[in-house]
Amino acid sequence: MQPDPLLQPVELDAGIVCLRAWRATDLDDAWAAFQDEQMRRWGGLPLATREDALAWLVRRLEPAADRLSWAVVDAATGALAGSVGFSFVDPGEGQAMVGYWTAPAARGRGLAALAVDTACRRLFATTSVDRVELFHAIADPASGRVAEKAGFTWEGRLRRSHRYDGVKLDQFLCARLADDPPPLPAGPGLSSRS
Ligand SMILES: CC(C)(COP(=O)(O)OP(=O)(O)OC[C@H]1O[C@@H](n2cnc3c(N)ncnc32)[C@H](O)[C@@H]1OP(=O)(O)O)[C@@H](O)C(=O)NCCC(=O)NCCS
Repeated sequence: MQPDPLLQPVELDAGIVCLRAWRATDLDDAWAAFQDEQMRRWGGLPLATREDALAWLVRRLEPAADRLSWAVVDAATGALAGSVGFSFVDPGEGQAMVGYWTAPAARGRGLAALAVDTACRRLFATTSVDRVELFHAIADPASGRVAEKAGFTWEGRLRRSHRYDGVKLDQFLCARLADDPPPLPAGPGLSSRS
């Protein structure tokens, strides 16, 4: 399947952060972020080695029909602050799943919620996806708070549904619909690009 031209990581200005396409030169900063205990515990990703990190990045550098990924960078410094992206994007079914992380040094400034909100607005504005799902471990309340702040509604508990650090744990499922009230004002430039 050819990648949908609309599933390209167009640069998005969200004020204090910018969402841009991943670059091969982001590997060192991404690998540094993956050393964090919270990332390893709750990221739900196999990121034990630098090769894992490289594979993770390569997936985000290559065009894909069902995936859309952005690096989140500090607008003032250009430093890598985090990641946001969609997988299992199915415009026919109108569905996608969102994933995100923030580098330890950039946490606590609202960046994850802002990035998730910005990415959702873009997806809703440019594709026929009208439902985005977000899964997080119930023991990871920070992720639950990000979901809430990014306009997601709690929908249920999925028992032993995902392996975290080798152990299957319960997750909460949250979702945001295209016509749900947006939680935050759009960042400058978003409306003109969507
Ligand atoms: C979860 C994560 C993305 C949050 O990133 P962030 O940029 O700090 O997120 P935000 O600043 O937008 O919001 C975090 C919210 O969680 C709250 N929070 C943080 N730790 C918390 C905890 N232990 N319990 C409850 N709430 C918590 C913060 O206070 C904040 O809410 P507030 O704005 O109402 O004060 C980041 O910690 C991370 O990358 N964790 C590891 C990977 C991960 O869990 N990814 C998500 C997988 S679904």
